[in-house]
Amino acid sequence: MSIMTPHIRQMCLCYFAITLTLTEAISLQLNQPKVLLVSFDGFRWDYIHRVPMPRFKYVMENGIHVNRVTNIFITKTYPNHYTLVTGLYAENHGIVANKMYDQDLNKTFSMDGMDIFDPVWWDEAYPLWVTNQIQGHKSGAVMWPGTDVQIHGMYPTHYMIYNISVPFEDRVTQLIDWFRGKEPVNFGLLYWEEPDQTGHEFGTDNPFLDKVIADIDLKLGYLVEQLQKAGLWNTINLIVTSDHGMTLCSRDRIIELDLYIDRDLYTWIDFTPVSAILPKEGKYYEIYHALVNAHPNMTVYKKEDIPDHFRYKHNKRIQPIIAVADEGWTINQNKTTGKFNLGDHGYDNTINSMQPLLIAHGPAFKKNFTKEIMDIVDVYPLICHILGIVPMSNNGTLNNVRELLVDGKMIATESSVVDIVSQGEINTRGSYAWLGILLGSVLVVCFLIVFVQQVTKSQMSGLNIHQGEMSQPLLSR
Ligand SMILES: *[C@@H]1O[C@H](CO)[C@@H](O)[C@H](O)[C@H]1NC(C)=O
Ligand SMILES: *[C@@H]1O[C@H](CO)[C@@H](O)[C@H](O)[C@H]1NC(C)=O
Ligand SMILES: *[C@@H]1O[C@H](CO)[C@@H](O)[C@H](O)[C@H]1NC(C)=O
Ligand SMILES: *[C@@H]1O[C@H](CO)[C@@H](O)[C@H](O)[C@H]1NC(C)=O
Ligand SMILES: *[C@@H]1O[C@H](CO)[C@@H](O)[C@H](O)[C@H]1NC(C)=O
Ligand SMILES: *[C@@H]1O[C@H](CO)[C@@H](O)[C@H](O)[C@H]1NC(C)=O
Ligand SMILES: [Zn+2]
Repeated sequence: MSIMTPHIRQMCLCYFAITLTLTEAISLQLNQPKVLLVSFDGFRWDYIHRVPMPRFKYVMENGIHVNRVTNIFITKTYPNHYTLVTGLYAENHGIVANKMYDQDLNKTFSMDGMDIFDPVWWDEAYPLWVTNQIQGHKSGAVMWPGTDVQIHGMYPTHYMIYNISVPFEDRVTQLIDWFRGKEPVNFGLLYWEEPDQTGHEFGTDNPFLDKVIADIDLKLGYLVEQLQKAGLWNTINLIVTSDHGMTLCSRDRIIELDLYIDRDLYTWIDFTPVSAILPKEGKYYEIYHALVNAHPNMTVYKKEDIPDHFRYKHNKRIQPIIAVADEGWTINQNKTTGKFNLGDHGYDNTINSMQPLLIAHGPAFKKNFTKEIMDIVDVYPLICHILGIVPMSNNGTLNNVRELLVDGKMIATESSVVDIVSQGEINTRGSYAWLGILLGSVLVVCFLIVFVQQVTKSQMSGLNIHQGEMSQPLLSR
């Protein structure tokens, strides 16, 4: 100790204080509410009753279970995944289908192509990870649709380029690393392709689908186990849901457009079960009249007549004519061309089989609580509320799902909706501001201490006091 000059001692104290402050900041960050949103693509609400699902049951009994989620029209993958993270209907978030055409841009969006990486498709909305990051937090995403696209100039803090071959276990490992990193994420997204793929290929009544559903139960079990091992299970709010259900189709239920309209008269933008039809110049009425009463199991709408409850009208990417098949029917040009799926989705979102489930577990959620039905647009305000971030303007209502939450664990301040412009302000007065003020104060105090020390030392230099005595009182305080 004797070799330590008061100056060094003060510095040490100073570092000690800063370290304390940082530790406090980091532990606060560790205590920040966390949400992990998981989607098992095409997991119909009633799949949990097909085979024993002990891991799902475990999560439900220790958390909440929403029997059915009314998703948005059209009940397809991209539109609904974007709704989960924006709280908006398709007409408002702009991802109106898995296949779209934008006449103004003269561009096509299709899952088979690279065009999904063009931000212009996604920029009509602000997804949750972008809002989360603007408000000073970090996000991590594994394969969730849109998370490898630069939306409003931003990727998730951590993300993986979409690669279907990456095993579920690797996806989980990656996410847990991000939740436990030095600068941990508070929001994670995890996507898995099944049971959608099997549902499409084999239909919904095939025993092979049961095996895949049982495997999903194992996968959820693996996720829970890894979260437990990582010490995250009791602090993370896990939400498991899906984008849509699935129904059985048949080659006996194909509607052939070729029987009614000439292929030269239109561009077939999207296929089935909601066909998006762009008539060639001057052919609009001809097409509409040829189709409107063509088949008893196909309802044909002019864009302006699409029923309001679909919330599927006010967007330039919705084509002038759409044809909607009845459940289990497929629209094709003829019986021998085009893709045919034994299972499909995309139909009217009020049809039972189109709807997924939602289960959740964590400090924010009640235990062993069941709710019959909820709207998919309410997931977004729910997550924002748990994370304590201010949501963007959206079509969801937190009050509709409040009953899922433990009251005591609710964030005190009720977030209000902000517009895009004020997001910047939130950043400056947001989560980093207090940290800055705290660190600043500590530095000022330290500077003053050292300064006083130096002044005192120079005043007392003539007295030649043992240096140890000078600093002792400070240390014992
Ligand atoms: C739209 O783009 C295609 C090429 O992708 C081009 O052939 C066509 O002329 C363009 N149409 C308009 C109206 O610009
Ligand atoms: C996709 O993931 C697999 C399995 O991890 C890997 O072998 C492959 O190289 C990846 N492909 C690309 C294009 O990164
Ligand atoms: C198909 O149309 C027929 C005749 O209108 C109707 O009876 C039947 O219910 C329809 N099928 C479905 C799945 O709606
Ligand atoms: C279906 O259309 C394809 C062209 O896309 C044609 O080759 C085929 O002959 C048609 N099938 C029938 C049954 O008309
Ligand atoms: C959950 O609630 C049901 C009744 O709603 C009850 O039978 C069951 O024992 C409860 N499970 C747990 C783990 O509390
Ligand atoms: C959905 O939310 C958007 C953004 O706030 C709004 O413009 C739109 O009118 C809402 N739609 C409905 C049906 O309320
Ligand atoms: Zn899907």
